[in-house]
Amino acid sequence: MLDLFDTIAPADPPFEPLAEGAALLRGAALAFETEVLTALDEITLQAPFRHMVTPGGFTMSVAMTNCGEAGWVTDRTGYRYDPNDPNDPETGRPWPAMPSCFLDLAVHCASRAGYPAFRPDACLINRYEPGARLSLHQDRDERDFAKPIVSISLGLPAIFQFGGLKRDDPVKKFAMRHGDVAVWGGASRLCYHGVTALKEGVHDVLGRMRVNLTFRGAL
Ligand code: SIN
Ligand code: FE2
Repeated sequence: MLDLFDTIAPADPPFEPLAEGAALLRGAALAFETEVLTALDEITLQAPFRHMVTPGGFTMSVAMTNCGEAGWVTDRTGYRYDPNDPNDPETGRPWPAMPSCFLDLAVHCASRAGYPAFRPDACLINRYEPGARLSLHQDRDERDFAKPIVSISLGLPAIFQFGGLKRDDPVKKFAMRHGDVAVWGGASRLCYHGVTALKEGVHDVLGRMRVNLTFRGAL
C-alpha cells in the first residue's frame, strides 16, 4: 500500500516552502553526515539519552539529551532551559559543548531558509525508536522568538506534522528522511508541530531509530 513515504521522490525540490517563514530543505544535512554522526556518539557518551517526565507525570516515549550552552529539560516542575541550573540533571555536569560541525550545519540551513544571522546556543537531541511519538506542541521555552528553529532528521523516516498557531488548526504532514531539514521562524515560529508514531524499520546507517537535532536560540 502506498503511504506518505512513497509520495516524496528523490527529485523533490531541495527547497520547499512549508508556511510563511518555514521551509523544508531536503537532504541538506547529508554533506555533514559523517562528522555529525561521530560528534553525536561523543555527546551521547557524555550525556546519555534518557526518557524525561512531563509536568503531568508522563514519561516521554522520545529519549532526549542536549548539547550547547543550555539544555532543554522537563520534570514534574515544568519544561525549561534553566539558566540558574544549566547542568545535565542526570550527570551534574555541564551539557557537552556544541561541536563545530553541528554549528556549521545549523548556520548553513538557517541561512538557506532566510535566517542568515541565526547562531544557536542549544541543541536538543531526540531519539525515536519504533512507536515513539511527539504530540503536537509549540516550542515556546526559548527567550527570543525572533530566532528560528532548525530541525535535522537522521535515520528512520518519520511523519512530521506542521500546523498553525492554534492547536486545532489544520495540520500538513511531511515525510522526513535521513538528512532532511525543517526550519521555522518568523510568522511560523510558534506553529504547532509534532511527529507521529515512528514506523518499525532498520536504517542503513542508524539502525532501528530516528535521531532529530533541533537547534534553538534559547538564552
Ligand atoms: C521537536 O519538536 O522538538 C522535534 C521534532 C522532530 O523530531 O522532528
Ligand atoms: Fe518542537
